[in-house]
Parts: sequence; structure tokens; C-alpha cells
Amino acid sequence: MYTAIIERYLENNRKWAADKQAVQPQYFEQLSMGQEPEALLIGCSDSRVSPSVVLGAELGEVFVHRNIANLIPHTDLNFLAVLQYAMEVLKVKHLIIFGHYGCGGVKAAMSDTCFGLIDNWLANIRDVMEKYKDELNAIRDEKARQDKLVELNVIEQAKNLMQTSVYRKAVERGDAPRIHTWVFDFHSGLIVDLAKETVYEGRAEGARSEGQRMGEKG
Ligand code: CO
Repeated sequence: MYTAIIERYLENNRKWAADKQAVQPQYFEQLSMGQEPEALLIGCSDSRVSPSVVLGAELGEVFVHRNIANLIPHTDLNFLAVLQYAMEVLKVKHLIIFGHYGCGGVKAAMSDTCFGLIDNWLANIRDVMEKYKDELNAIRDEKARQDKLVELNVIEQAKNLMQTSVYRKAVERGDAPRIHTWVFDFHSGLIVDLAKETVYEGRAEGARSEGQRMGEKG
């Protein structure tokens, strides 16, 4: 039996499809002809950060890969397949690591609680914590420390991305897409570009130079 929320999803879908068609009769016919997204976005599965909604993007504009805490482990075949398809077939020009403050995955990684299977996934964030432990421990406020780890995690995932064979091959060819390190802020609804902005004292230099270095690759 369908629950109320499922009924609502389907009803909304029928309304949405009708509205689209009313405004642009050829909309779905054009959509079915193919996609030419210019960006691959790697985001968190969190229901509050749907990329197309936040970016105001139309269907067909963003190729998306999502998992808990927007991670890019070196051996994630799922991601590597998405990356290869995005770069070599769709030929995207931008790769966006899309983190968000208040990330449950990051919070869980910071806590001492054992959650079971997911701890193995969150170990990727704990590696980032270990790498930057002095910098993180120096931040007294817990919320600020979490936010900082969210940022560092995005930067580290960008580095992992740069280590993939697909990306390295593109660098060799001289046509690697540009990498962007973004963090979504629930409080403002805005995206912070880590390559450009200073959010917390002490973070700016590392993040900025990293962002610039990555920008130069593109
Ligand atoms: Co999250």
C-alpha cells in the first residue's frame, strides 16, 4: 500500500510534468534526445542539498554523484565509473566537490559512537581528521571545528579526485576539467567557494592555495 508521502510524490510529479508541458510543449521530447551537462557534481546524499534545486539548474545541466559526506575514496568503482563517463563521454568542463556545513556524516565521524557498517565509510573522514588534528584541535568551539572539518574534507576529496587515473590522464593531455571546492550553508542558502573565501580564521591560506593550485590545472 502506498503511504501518504508516496501518493504526494506521484501527484506532484503529474502536476510538474503537466506544468512543464504547458509552458514548453517540446520540453520532454527535447529532454529525451540526450544530455550535455557541463559539470559533474559530487555531493552529499543529505536531502537538504539537492544540487539541481540549490543551483537552480534545469534537468540535463548537472551530472551528479552523491554519497554520504561527498567522499571520493581512491578505490570507489562506482565513483570512478561516473568520473570516467563524465569526463570521457560527456566531456564535462567542471568537477564540483559539493560539501555542506552541518553534515551528519562529518558529525558522526567526529563522535566516539560506533554506528556499525557505516563507520568503514566514515573512516575516510577520520583520515582527514588525523591529517589535520593539530589544526582541528586548536579550534575550541565544537560547531566551528565541525565546519572546519567539512571544509577540509572537501579539499581532501578534491585531492583524491586529482589522483584518479582518469583525471591524471586528462592532465597529461592538457584538457583536465576545472575542479571547484564548494560548501553549501543552510543558514544563508548560499554556496561558499573555498578557493575564494575565508570563513574561519586560520583556514584561509591552506584552502586558498589549494584551490588556486587546482584551478590552475583546469
Ligand atoms: Co552531509
